[in-house]
Amino acid sequence: MKNNLKVAVIGAMDCEINTLKECLKDIETIEYGKLTVFKGRIGNNEIILTKSGVGKVCAAINTQFIIDKFQPDCIINTGVAGGIAQELEVGDIVIATSLVQHDFDATALGYVKGYACTGGDNQKPTWFYTDEKLIKAFETAISKVHTTSKIYKGVIATGDMFIGTPEKKTELRELFNATAAEMESSAIAQTANTNDIPCLVIRAISDLADCTANKPFAEVEKQMAEVAASTIEILLDNL
Ligand code: ADE
Repeated sequence: MKNNLKVAVIGAMDCEINTLKECLKDIETIEYGKLTVFKGRIGNNEIILTKSGVGKVCAAINTQFIIDKFQPDCIINTGVAGGIAQELEVGDIVIATSLVQHDFDATALGYVKGYACTGGDNQKPTWFYTDEKLIKAFETAISKVHTTSKIYKGVIATGDMFIGTPEKKTELRELFNATAAEMESSAIAQTANTNDIPCLVIRAISDLADCTANKPFAEVEKQMAEVAASTIEILLDNL
């Protein structure tokens, strides 16, 4: 990949951006209404770091705003997710290959769940995509360091709900073959795809989406947000 990229990094919550904020060199804080942008450098790359807020609407607003203001070369979404695939454990990393909005529901019209009314075949969920070159760059960067996290690739299902029951987990697995679930990345990918900007989504598993977490969730969430962010730092240093 060429050096000196302008990379937008988006996390939903403070705990998802704090680790990277601390890594930024020559940091500059810019306020735009309710949005705070941290500009700085990691390696040879210019980083535009923001907290979007939770959920698809916040994520889409934030992503489009950053695209319009900064014209980034690529967009990276970092944060935590609930594990949906059987084999996942807390602490694992999931690289999204494609994303779907699992709560997009026009089934009353005869469409399948996840079909986002964007045109095309309404009997198939609408998929949004991440960039293969960025995925390769991430895999290469992460293979050069020691990490205890297992790395998985697969579908991430996004919706405006926290997944916490075995029934919902099974549904996401059966309908979308989802590996993980969270609340922003499909909206970020949709916005990036619409603007023809390559994107990458990296999430660390903070829970198994069934409410069986044995430590207070906020604590694990913070630790796992740091796990995801440190892998992004490794990528940005090597991009
Ligand atoms: N983010 C982290 N865990 C999640 C879950 N179980 N559901 C939705 N978003 C999440």
